[in-house]
Amino acid sequence: MATAVRDLIDVSRDSLRAQFRRDVLTGLSQKRKAIPARWFYDHRGSELFEEITRLPEYYPTRTETGILMAHATRIGRMVGPRHHVVVEFGAGSATKTPLLLDAIWTAAYVPIDISGEFLRESCAGLAARYPELPIHPVEADFSQPATLPGEVEQHPRLGFFPGSTIGNMEPMAAVDLLRSMRRTLGAGSLLLIGFDRIKAESELVSAYDDAQGVTAAFNLNLAARINGELGGTLPLDALAHRAVWNDDRARIEMHIAATRAIEFEVCGRRFTMAQGETIHTENSHKYDPRSADTLLLAGGWEPLQGFGDADDRFMVILARAIGDEQTA
Ligand code: AVI
Repeated sequence: MATAVRDLIDVSRDSLRAQFRRDVLTGLSQKRKAIPARWFYDHRGSELFEEITRLPEYYPTRTETGILMAHATRIGRMVGPRHHVVVEFGAGSATKTPLLLDAIWTAAYVPIDISGEFLRESCAGLAARYPELPIHPVEADFSQPATLPGEVEQHPRLGFFPGSTIGNMEPMAAVDLLRSMRRTLGAGSLLLIGFDRIKAESELVSAYDDAQGVTAAFNLNLAARINGELGGTLPLDALAHRAVWNDDRARIEMHIAATRAIEFEVCGRRFTMAQGETIHTENSHKYDPRSADTLLLAGGWEPLQGFGDADDRFMVILARAIGDEQTA
């Protein structure tokens, strides 16, 4: 790994494990069982997600990449000639990052991701491609405000939040996250953020229930992870992947369903599921341009310009942090 890649700022593994344990035990104890989607992303989960992004049914990655390529010059012009620190939230494999790094003047790159191992691998790739670029990876849960490394403080910031990951949050949590990003990045910062658009139910459902079963493996990997890391005894042969469109909430929901009545333990605690009962594992909210703009404004970001594709599948919005001054 190039020397420009600074030491990973590591949050304690124990504390992550304790949060995982708490979220799983709390989630399984609820009347409607649910576990936050962020726990999908252990190393295997991150690999499976990368596979999902290449599936024929999963249009978001391809479409967003096309939008970034088509509008790179315009985005570069709007960001301007000053060198910005690019802070990527939930960087994962950072495959879209070069599209942005090539389009703007970059002082440093700060990827924030919960999966340290994956982060290390993707940073090594970027360091080889951009040997002069200072890279400061931060292993952390990006939903919490983060302190940026001191070395990057003097530069303006551009947050990068591609992939429509914002859609994985309930609107209230999405607003909290946008506010937290604004705090992390500071007043006057820019944010380039991807939103998946509302479209035909059949297209949405097949994107989350693909023919090869990769999304099913991604969802069910969470159960395997609970067994491996929390001494769980979930019977994997009695669990099935479900993806459904919730029209009232404009979101795809993923669930793990019990195909028969089951009993299992996690961390020594007993749980049961009736046949057909589910563990709700993910929401993926879809937006139209107005609802996306409203969400950004509620989160303290003023939309400057939206970029889209010819089929209105996806949109990327450039926004600026709203100052603290009062308005009428
Ligand atoms: C990361 N996130 C934006 C993906 C999505 O589309 O909601 C996660 C995913 N879940 C199933 N397929 C992809």
